[in-house]
Amino acid sequence: MRILAIESSADDSGVALVEAVGKFGDDFRFSVLANEIASQHHEEYGGIYPNVAKKEHQKNLPILYEKIRAQHPEKPDVIAVTTHPGLEPCLWAGITFAQKLAEQWGVPVVAVNHLEGHIVMSMMKFQTNEIRQHSHILGYVGMSGRLHHFDFPVLSLLISGGNTQLVLSKEPLRYEVVGRTRDDAAGEAFDKVARMLSLPYPGGPHISRLAAASREHHEMSSHGVRLPRPMLHEDNLDFSFSGLKTAVLRMVEAHKPLSDDMKKAIAREFEDAVADVLVGKTLLAVEQCGVNTVITGGGVSANAHIRGRLANALSDAGVKFFVCEPALSTDNALMIALAGYFRAQAGEYTDAAHLRADGSLSLA
Ligand code: KG4
Repeated sequence: MRILAIESSADDSGVALVEAVGKFGDDFRFSVLANEIASQHHEEYGGIYPNVAKKEHQKNLPILYEKIRAQHPEKPDVIAVTTHPGLEPCLWAGITFAQKLAEQWGVPVVAVNHLEGHIVMSMMKFQTNEIRQHSHILGYVGMSGRLHHFDFPVLSLLISGGNTQLVLSKEPLRYEVVGRTRDDAAGEAFDKVARMLSLPYPGGPHISRLAAASREHHEMSSHGVRLPRPMLHEDNLDFSFSGLKTAVLRMVEAHKPLSDDMKKAIAREFEDAVADVLVGKTLLAVEQCGVNTVITGGGVSANAHIRGRLANALSDAGVKFFVCEPALSTDNALMIALAGYFRAQAGEYTDAAHLRADGSLSLA
């Protein structure tokens, strides 16, 4: 089956073309025919303005699609489009475009949950003999893959700019949210703290860079910087990041003007605090849900320190851990094509005229 996928839930416009065969399991195989992405730059706003982002998607999606069509003029079998969750005006830009393509080609449409896209992406394993240098820059085009080997139940830790959730799957493609943030998402906290430290948006990679610089210099003192680990010792699977953000704000106010060393120390302690909470809650969920496999996905899972901490803690606990490569952790249409394939295979098509954007709909 050839899937043409559209992603536009936040500030990345993506179009991908994937060929896939087999059922969810050992006989599943896919190859990436095309994977185009256009990232918007909202630095000057310190965040995304949905209506500005929508216009960008309207401009970008046709350009990306035409680029793909020039190389692959054949008819796709299905159009997959992200319909939820995300910023509604942005989602609508993708939906409208998908409707147009479905009509032009006369093919059916599947509505894809963006969060399922992140989870499914991290379940995939590329053929290692094909992992080529710079494949991340080329969007993994020409590469093929399959599913990692694992058994259900599986726990997924979703950490992105809009969501932070622990999700239990007792069987393939079924989801039960067992823990969620009560306020800010982990990525949102990274972005807000970055802003307090006068770093560009999106803040995650910038905080990570400063934190790494601080860790490199072991001799560098922590400058007495200590932040809370919200809800870490509570016996539930929920998260809260807004108190942590407020604690950073107080610290920034108290030490103004911030020296470069102080900025690095705050970035490091903040990243450590987020990692401690994510690791602690994931281990608690592993125990409570009785799982042997953990998957993580979403923009924050691109963070090297957090990936490393999760990998170590889960390896110590004897639990399998899968996360996709950083370049595929943030939003892309490849993950929408893969999740869309499984939905299409299950016959879950939606009448194109009835597609609707739902900003808040979560997995479950
Ligand atoms: O999944 P994603 O690309 O978009 C949605 O939320 O839909 O996630 C974006 C988020 C942003 O908040 C960004 O700051 C964060 O992921 N992020 C990171 C890193 N790279 C991206 N956070 C921490 N460390 C990173 N290396």
